[in-house]
Amino acid sequence: MKPEIQNHPYPSGGTIRQLRPSDAGHFRDHLLRLDAVSRRDRFNGAASAAFIEAYAERCFSQGTTVVGFVEADGTVHGAAELHERPELEDTGEIAFSVEAHLQHRGIGRRLFRRLLGHAHALGYTRLLVTTHPQNEAMKRLARSFSAKLTFSDGETVGLIELDSDSSDGDFPFAAAPGARIAHYAD
Ligand SMILES: CC(C)(COP(=O)(O)OP(=O)(O)OC[C@H]1O[C@@H](n2cnc3c(N)ncnc32)[C@H](O)[C@@H]1OP(=O)(O)O)[C@@H](O)C(=O)NCCC(=O)NCCS
Repeated sequence: MKPEIQNHPYPSGGTIRQLRPSDAGHFRDHLLRLDAVSRRDRFNGAASAAFIEAYAERCFSQGTTVVGFVEADGTVHGAAELHERPELEDTGEIAFSVEAHLQHRGIGRRLFRRLLGHAHALGYTRLLVTTHPQNEAMKRLARSFSAKLTFSDGETVGLIELDSDSSDGDFPFAAAPGARIAHYAD
């Protein structure tokens, strides 16, 4: 039976929006603030502060789409990233992070939905997500989009297939739940 997870109300402050170049430092600081478990889940293993600093800088210098949960003072406490995977046709890789004190409040779901809109607008039809099979939050997040994310032993990459039936670039977010996630074998 599915264990009951206590969800708290969505925080009243904060905005979900695409991060600007000037938000780069806040994005880096958000990743650095992740607690040890979230950091490991986010980077699928150990990640030093130096690695994270370089990683955050690369995201902005390489044109990664980053959507954030941004407080009024500009601090970022949650993020969804969309990285291009140019070696794979029309494929992006996505990643999510929400700081522990704000998890279970619906921020991850909102970031996911917004990122799907960006992915569609950029013409991606497939999105990869890498995590470990025990990441219950990520599996639940995927399911909340009526998607099925299945991992086999030791395999940690899932595939989200986006419908590309809207050729005018208009992607109503309500359509996001139709995104399908399937097992990806590399
Ligand atoms: C994955 C993550 C982004 C989810 O963010 P969030 O803001 O807590 O997500 P939401 O509040 O929108 O909840 C989404 C679902 O996850 C569930 N969930 C959230 N945290 C959970 C946890 N620690 N354990 C189990 N389920 C959890 C919620 O109950 C909800 O499920 P439901 O729709 O069945 O009720 C967040 O847990 C996180 O940053 N984890 C560390 C990094 C990571 O694992 N990233 C994913 C791989 S890149």
